[in-house]
Amino acid sequence: MALAAETQSIVNQFEYTDDDVNKGVKEFLRQMAEGLEKDGTSLSQIPTYVTGVPNGTEKGLYMAVDLGGTNFRVCSVKLNGDGTFNITSDKVAVPKALMVAKTAEELFAFLALQIKKFLEKHHGDHFEAHIRRRMTVSSPEGYKDENVFRMGFTFSFPVQQMGINKGTLIRWTKGFDIQDAVGKDVCALLQQEIDKLHLPVKVAALVNDTVGTLMAHSYGAPGSHGAVLGAIFGTGTNGAYVEKLSNVKKPMVGEYDTSTGEMVINTEWGSFDNQLNVLPNTPWDVVLDKQSVNPGFQMYEKRVSGMFLGEILRLVILDLLKNPDVSFLKDDNSSTNDLRSTTDIAETSSIFQQWGVDSSILSVAAGDHTPALTLLRKGLDDNLQIHAAAYEDAQAIKSVADAIGRRAARLAAVAIAAIVLQTGKLNDPAHKDEPIDVGVDGSLVEHYPYFREMIHEALSIVDGIGKEGAKRIRIGLAEDGSGVGAALIALVAAGMEKNTTD
Ligand code: GLC
Repeated sequence: MALAAETQSIVNQFEYTDDDVNKGVKEFLRQMAEGLEKDGTSLSQIPTYVTGVPNGTEKGLYMAVDLGGTNFRVCSVKLNGDGTFNITSDKVAVPKALMVAKTAEELFAFLALQIKKFLEKHHGDHFEAHIRRRMTVSSPEGYKDENVFRMGFTFSFPVQQMGINKGTLIRWTKGFDIQDAVGKDVCALLQQEIDKLHLPVKVAALVNDTVGTLMAHSYGAPGSHGAVLGAIFGTGTNGAYVEKLSNVKKPMVGEYDTSTGEMVINTEWGSFDNQLNVLPNTPWDVVLDKQSVNPGFQMYEKRVSGMFLGEILRLVILDLLKNPDVSFLKDDNSSTNDLRSTTDIAETSSIFQQWGVDSSILSVAAGDHTPALTLLRKGLDDNLQIHAAAYEDAQAIKSVADAIGRRAARLAAVAIAAIVLQTGKLNDPAHKDEPIDVGVDGSLVEHYPYFREMIHEALSIVDGIGKEGAKRIRIGLAEDGSGVGAALIALVAAGMEKNTTD
């Protein structure tokens, strides 16, 4: 098959039609209801014990740490009480070896050490005062902990929450794999290592990044009724939303405040439809899943999030290279009339390594409107050692990459649409015509051109939303969910949610 035809046939396989979107939304709603009823379902629907969203008036100094993927971030956050905040933060890459360490202790000791470094660097006075205090008090019970930082721990993996600062790891995602940690309370694991270093820090809240995003987006919009959904489209994908307590049918073990009648639910939608009732499943999706550390899990995430889109593209390109009928990426300069140049792939190109293609190349492809695809060709050269890509080859890569990105955005719309419908806000006469706020964060929504526009376009064809409904859905970038959001939940957890007016 000629290159153009081969490419077109691949592009077609990534098509996700309006009809597919609507079927997806229906199934998503069904799996949401199922997850609220019992444990062990595909969509976990985890109660977070967070029973309200902030309104921007919260105040205080808190710490927040974030372990979610490639980096570990430590911050201190000063909430100013007027919807603004000041944040100090440091970030380190998590060493690959620790992501698959033998023991949980190895990873958590590394995290505690980063907290220590942060405190020494940015809060030296606080730190020293605390150490002095400890030295003058003989028993641990005897010393007051007012100098102890309350810390929100953003831990962005599926956790069975038992309370606001207690939760056991269900399974790892996004390439982490430390079996020793599964089933353990991750807050306790971190607190143990913090205590070994005698740090003045108490892990006060366990926060999923999506919950942090939801909180941060509500805090940043004082006077609004708060966001209905916080979502991440980054390395992984997931969403947290505000659910009516009366809809949460499964038993909850921890204590919580019932006065708001609401509970934030961490959907863990990365595992939506692991059984593949409605998710598309191309041959490349099949291979990606088989070769992953968690086959059969996070099936939605594997089609939507940043960690996987580059890998899908890589698998497609490898197939094209194998196909003898395709002139793709081969030197066919034999004919002098042929204007194609030689595309030269280095043998060491990361295209030949699993996870070797970063999803950022999809963003480059989507944003390249130059007539000769100059940006993409440079990107292929710089990042993948595909030198001097012929125009046709770059064009083929762009078409496939765009199809993968568009499918991801339309799948993203499925989750957002289902949750907006679930909240009933579109038909709520009390909030007629009001905007419905969705806070989003993550590399895809930040850097992939038109990702949000493509989501919006798909929302407008969903039954029950339509063009008018879609106009009311505001998808806004949430500012610093993992920092501010976690700090806000630490505040709630510390029982200091009352607005102080000093
Ligand atoms: C993965 C995690 C989830 C997290 C998401 C985004 O899906 O399981 O907890 O929210 O990635 O980081």
